Amino acid sequence: MPVWKKECTLNYEKELKTLQMELLKLQNHVKKKGLKVLIIFEGRDAAGKGGTIKRIMEHLNPRGARVVALGIPSDVEKTQWYFQRYTTHLPSGGEITLFDRSWYNRAGVEPVMGFCTEEEHARFLHEVPFYEEMQVGSGTHLIKFYLTISKEEQAKRFHERQVNPLKNYKISPIDIKAQELWDKYTIAKYAMLLASHTEAAPWTIVNSDIKKNARINVIKHILSSFEYEGKSSKIDLTPDQSILYDGGKEII
Ligand code: ADP
Ligand code: MLT
Repeated sequence: MPVWKKECTLNYEKELKTLQMELLKLQNHVKKKGLKVLIIFEGRDAAGKGGTIKRIMEHLNPRGARVVALGIPSDVEKTQWYFQRYTTHLPSGGEITLFDRSWYNRAGVEPVMGFCTEEEHARFLHEVPFYEEMQVGSGTHLIKFYLTISKEEQAKRFHERQVNPLKNYKISPIDIKAQELWDKYTIAKYAMLLASHTEAAPWTIVNSDIKKNARINVIKHILSSFEYEGKSSKIDLTPDQSILYDGGKEII
């Protein structure tokens, strides 16, 4: 391995550890104050949602921190109000809940793959700001991340999944179509941002072509969103603006 690459990895590991220690302090604060924290991760297939969530969870106390990654809706769930199956998983006081994908399936994969009707898609885009405003209004701290990757990087990651047996399980029939449907996903993404980048629940965009940069900056953004006891004054928690920025910038 070239020396520079090694150094880069070492710095990443060190920075990640430091930030993970801060996350633990944040978790203690959340527990102590009984805060409800909901962090949503959205983005195209292979954008790195799962890997980012893994680094956040790594050293947290599992009591009080949860990942919600819901699968295909069951036949019974399909008969319910669309938001119903997500609502049961919203955080209670003292909890940090991380959503690996969310109700935003209805703004991305569902309309693009034809799993919902155009009318259901439109209804979703109309209703989602109210749904989120109700949560924020009742005291939930809601953070919404959209991880972006380039078409080339997505192709590279799918290829990696095919050749690496440890990543093989991640390939799904949905992934196989993602490159072909790239432009449809792009249109759906802008419709989603336009409808749901609100004052109460803004989007934060994360350039995720370099996974490590994405992870570090996501954690910095979370930490800088809260004041908590013992917060280090030595660490610069300001995210890099070229990697992580306000969703409003995508839609002007
Ligand atoms: P992931 O990328 O989250 O590992 P997939 O790429 O297989 O999973 O699927 C993407 C999303 O599409 C998942 O949230 C999954 O539940 C959803 N999905 C897949 N099939 C359907 C379907 N028939 N109806 C509704 N949602 C679906
Ligand atoms: C990601 O890598 O973004 C997800 O966790 C997995 C996927 O959607 O393929």
